[in-house]
Amino acid sequence: MKFYSLASSNWDKEEILAIKNVIKSNRYTMGGEVLKFEKKISKFYNVNHAIMFNSGSSANLIMIASLFEMGLIKKGDEVIVPAVSWSTTYFPLYQYGLKLVFVDTNKFGIIEIENVIKAISKKTRIIFNVNLLGFPSKLDVLKKIADKNKIILLEDNCESFGSVYKNKKAGTFGLMGSLSFFYSHHITTMEGGMILTNNLKISEYAKSLRAHGWLRDLPIKNKIHNKTGDNFKDSFKFVLPGYSLRPLEFSAAIGSVQLKKWNKQKKQRIDNARFFCKLLGKSSKFEIPNFDKDSTWFGFPIVFKDKIDRNKMIRVFELNGIECRPIVAGNFIKQPVINKLNYRISGKLKNADHIDECGLFLGNDHRNLKKQLNKVNELIRNEI
Ligand SMILES: Cc1ncc(COP(=O)(O)O)c(C=O)c1O
Repeated sequence: MKFYSLASSNWDKEEILAIKNVIKSNRYTMGGEVLKFEKKISKFYNVNHAIMFNSGSSANLIMIASLFEMGLIKKGDEVIVPAVSWSTTYFPLYQYGLKLVFVDTNKFGIIEIENVIKAISKKTRIIFNVNLLGFPSKLDVLKKIADKNKIILLEDNCESFGSVYKNKKAGTFGLMGSLSFFYSHHITTMEGGMILTNNLKISEYAKSLRAHGWLRDLPIKNKIHNKTGDNFKDSFKFVLPGYSLRPLEFSAAIGSVQLKKWNKQKKQRIDNARFFCKLLGKSSKFEIPNFDKDSTWFGFPIVFKDKIDRNKMIRVFELNGIECRPIVAGNFIKQPVINKLNYRISGKLKNADHIDECGLFLGNDHRNLKKQLNKVNELIRNEI
């Protein structure tokens, strides 16, 4: 066992009971538990629709697929993205023939507003914002820019469950927002994700695209293709080129339990963050974000001034049983897969490069991490 792991499960007998209840019900494929969890999440987020998927990556894919099938975007359109994010923020854009426009971020991977403004061209159709590591971008400003330029704002909120920006939950500023319930994320069903939206038509497209492109999960009167009312015909009517990305009942039943535990978990995460910021706040050798009580602190980023120090600390942490990792995927431009994508870079990616070369992050979760963070502090202060 590691002294300080990147993530840890908070499942206990309640999650096990939820799993047993699904087994007892003998209904495993998407059904009542998924509907219940979707309702709970839509209430939690105060949005009209929450559509569950088998992962956050699938949610990102269907956000783009819905816009494409609704005719709101087309091949060759440009999408502004931050240069630091996870691979599956970017891949659906490639998969739908869109051009990625990479812009630089702040010191900790959050998209910079002035870079977004500079990157807008006649072809821009989407700003795909990412609320990275629990920190919302300046979402009200992004929304204004998007509206002014008749561009769609989307939010990859997979790393920022429960984070708030100016009293409104991150993930609800754009036309759609995505969530992930993967193991290391805030609430976990091990695999799972969600799209949040207030738009009924989008929710119907997303539901059809989630399950084979059929009509089954839609009401008789819907915004894609009305049903006949004849179950025999309606159940096997395919109206969109869809996928099979449905979640299991297990995941949703567990999600409902996890959501009940969220407030307690959130408090501990933020307490850990407060401790981390106080302990490591001042150094001439590295920087960390300022404490922010509205972030749900996915992890603890540390950006060293010098890459030699970062590389040294990776080794020291390893030797001491402390897991650390790059800040998300670093500067994505440097990933080998970039050669496959259609993209341009707007401006210089100075901060993204620095994050890539000098950044790392440590985990945060529901546990009190004082002991682990004290050790981190001691090692950093001794070694560099
Ligand atoms: C920013 C971001 N987007 C999307 C995803 C994909 O989520 P999932 O692992 O549920 O597919 C992740 C996963 O870590 C992520 O960090």
